[in-house]
Amino acid sequence: MKALLLENIHPDAVRPLEDAGLEVVQRRSALGERDLAAAMSGVALLGIRSKTQVTDAVLAGAPNLLAVGAFCIGTDQIDLAAASARGVAVFNAPYSNTRSVVELTLAEIIALTRRLTEKDQAMHAGRWDKSATGAHEVRGRTLGIVGYGNIGAQLSVVSEALGMRVVFYDTADKLALGNARRCVSMDELLEVSDVVSLHVDGRPSNSSLFGEKEFSRMRQGALFLNLCRGFVIDHEALRHHLVSGHLAGAAVDVFPEEPRSAGEEFVSVLRGLPNVILTPHIGGSTEEAQADIGAFVGAKLADFVTDGATPLSVNMPQLALPPASGSHRLAHVHRNIPGVMAEMNSVLAAHGVNVEAQLLGTRGDLGYALTDIGVDYPEDAVDQLRALSPTVRLRVLS
Ligand SMILES: NC(=O)c1ccc[n+]([C@@H]2O[C@H](COP(=O)([O-])OP(=O)(O)OC[C@H]3O[C@@H](n4cnc5c(N)ncnc54)[C@H](O)[C@@H]3O)[C@@H](O)[C@H]2O)c1
Repeated sequence: MKALLLENIHPDAVRPLEDAGLEVVQRRSALGERDLAAAMSGVALLGIRSKTQVTDAVLAGAPNLLAVGAFCIGTDQIDLAAASARGVAVFNAPYSNTRSVVELTLAEIIALTRRLTEKDQAMHAGRWDKSATGAHEVRGRTLGIVGYGNIGAQLSVVSEALGMRVVFYDTADKLALGNARRCVSMDELLEVSDVVSLHVDGRPSNSSLFGEKEFSRMRQGALFLNLCRGFVIDHEALRHHLVSGHLAGAAVDVFPEEPRSAGEEFVSVLRGLPNVILTPHIGGSTEEAQADIGAFVGAKLADFVTDGATPLSVNMPQLALPPASGSHRLAHVHRNIPGVMAEMNSVLAAHGVNVEAQLLGTRGDLGYALTDIGVDYPEDAVDQLRALSPTVRLRVLS
């Protein structure tokens, strides 16, 4: 079986795939739709990052494809519905760069609170200004975290270790970690926070979540950070509140429109403002995160190939059976309709095949069953299972 890894995926991805018996082919660049379709012949696993589009047409021309690994966080570049319809599992790395984002956020909170970039720029311009005016400690200040998911919760724990008070607001029920206090509304959070940091996800309803009204409710002299998604804030409104002196500073890592390549100019109304840190969407970009993503997604793909395991898959029902010795495993992707398991087990029983372990999971229109059977089974039984009308894909794993 062949694994094709595009977009210069970290070498830590290769070992688990080779250990699972795959021949790994690596390419540095992304491929356009036509070139990708041509390259898919005989490919069982495809690894991509954010630039390669895995379209319905690419999937249609890749009958051997078992799974796609997105060696990044987002999976917008993959037609998930088309992948699911073909029983192609999709995996990503939801946690691998969480810590990297948290560390950049903390660094920026301290840098903004001390007005560090201004001091740095003055020194590079030959100006020696030792004044303490406007420079503060973060200890004792209140950090308001909007979105208490993987990143928000981790930020909560680490910033408390620096002596900050933490409040948070999340639309979902979340366990408050450490001494963090949950706010019942975003307004409550804005009223009490010296620093507001956004860490919500990219659901469409979060578009323009933070605009004139929300900035106006922030405390005089407060700091604002956005390292989640560009479209959640109104940059004109943020500029207005910085220029007026209502807000003391801001750090922004994500933008509604970002340059597609290094040569393209970065255009923003936030450019040139004092005590505003602008970074080119690098919250998660560390060598540690890249290595972790490589190893994490590589292992997920390898486990799926060898054991049929799908925990943390983006599109498949999530299940795993412990690796079985002395048996074969049937990995059966099927349409989620009544009676499939009964049909399947009748076929096995009619051929005298004993079921040693079995697990079923469903997700939307898709069902997935792992069934361990003895090593001696008639091929005819497998042919009949493949021919069942709800069957999307059947693999026999040894
Ligand atoms: N800057 C970067 O390089 C970088 C890197 C990684 C992740 N991110 C972004 O950071 C964000 C957070 O990532 P995560 O892994 O913590 O996601 P997550 O899904 O674990 O957490 C998001 C949280 O936001 C909450 N939420 C959603 N909408 C909300 C709203 N309107 N008000 C309050 N809470 C709301 C959700 O309930 C959830 O708890 C995502 O948007 C992700 O794309 C950016």
